[in-house]
Amino acid sequence: MFVVPLIERKRDGGVLTPAEWRELIAAYTAGAVPDYQMSALLMAVLWRGLERAELGALTDAMLSSGDRLAFDGWPVPRVDKHSTGGVGDKVSLVLAPLVAACGVAVPMMSGRGLGHTGGTLDKLEAIPGFRTGLSLAEAKAQVLKLHCAMLGQTPEIAPADKQLYALRDVSGTVAAIPLIAASIMSKKLAEGLTGLVLDVKHGGGAFLPPTETALELARTMIALGVDRGCPTVALLTAMDRPLGRACGNALETEEAIQTLLGEGPADLLEVTYALGVEMLLLAGVEKTAAKARKRLEETLRSGRAAEKLQQVIEAQGGNPKIVEDPSGLPQAQAVEIYKAQETGVVTRVEPRTIGRAIIALGGGRQKVEDSVDHSVGFVITVKPGDKVLAGEPIASVFARDAAGVELGLAALTQAIVIADRLAERPLPLISHRVTKEGVEEMKGEGGRPKAEAKARKRG
Ligand code: URA
Repeated sequence: MFVVPLIERKRDGGVLTPAEWRELIAAYTAGAVPDYQMSALLMAVLWRGLERAELGALTDAMLSSGDRLAFDGWPVPRVDKHSTGGVGDKVSLVLAPLVAACGVAVPMMSGRGLGHTGGTLDKLEAIPGFRTGLSLAEAKAQVLKLHCAMLGQTPEIAPADKQLYALRDVSGTVAAIPLIAASIMSKKLAEGLTGLVLDVKHGGGAFLPPTETALELARTMIALGVDRGCPTVALLTAMDRPLGRACGNALETEEAIQTLLGEGPADLLEVTYALGVEMLLLAGVEKTAAKARKRLEETLRSGRAAEKLQQVIEAQGGNPKIVEDPSGLPQAQAVEIYKAQETGVVTRVEPRTIGRAIIALGGGRQKVEDSVDHSVGFVITVKPGDKVLAGEPIASVFARDAAGVELGLAALTQAIVIADRLAERPLPLISHRVTKEGVEEMKGEGGRPKAEAKARKRG
């Protein structure tokens, strides 16, 4: 295939035809297009963007580079959630079993930590024995039996994305809306879903921090899903501070379990419920948001969601007793409390600093082949807007050794800012709902969505 004219056309702001995208992706996946040409084209896409038909053709080509989960004739609705990534974001571990326990199948395909953000697979693998590398056949059998499987991208799913993603990672072309949208949606569309809910993060800890950019990403992915017969809805949620209290794999898994047992932090629970409501509505098992919310709350309270997580853990080779006794999760050797340095108001808890510190502690990867220490991380008990007294314990560091503790304490000093007053308001926890019809702002008391304001009052 003669690729140079295609690169030049895109470089100059032109458009490639669907047939050209198909041929190009097929040739690249077959090894007939070298990486240096593909990276030049990716860079041209980053600068010039893609028209809707081009983006559709690229996504379809990536999707059909591999297999799909097929549930032909199975009457149970299948809905997944995808997050664009954050710090402390353990929502999937709570949401997948919760929604599955409400009668909706959740074939959840997740990723590993990426950049400063954590990944669901790493959190699941903190559970001794848990196997995320299911084949498509295993995943399908488990979804049919338990209505829930939590796995990584199998080699059968969208191999073109795997290859392209690795290339983008080393060619400065990750942060391009059409490339992110095609990458995410080519994998999600392979899951055989009847609906998809997107958790699009914005704020300093998100990959694309500006709200407008996050909205554009949401709209782009929704159009891709809807055009391919997969109804898709997105919520924009805050990532200007970590979600929940725990940041780091085993600590987050433990917090997710506590949440399923009814003792989770209010913000984590609120985001989980909001996404769960959208999933139940898309699945058609409830007709109104209020009823969907009630069903989720009752299911969590009944213990059925925690039980579902146990079944999934057992089916995937892990020890289900971890849900009753999380002390079997990896434990850090060195733990130290961090105290407020002064009296005042917490104005920032900077997620990128926390995410990068987890990697430095060994809890994430600096290189693809690095192994992960699941035990390390932070528990941060304050949020922007909280009043603190000098000397009050506000966080803990979990590390391998004394040097790790020092590193963690330094990161907390940098990440947690205390001042006389709050200069800048934190982002609303859930700020926008995006559907194919348009964008709805979710304003509640004090600028927060109503539901979150209520959750805060409850404590
Ligand atoms: N997650 C993905 O799967 N792909 C991207 O491009 C970015 C985040």
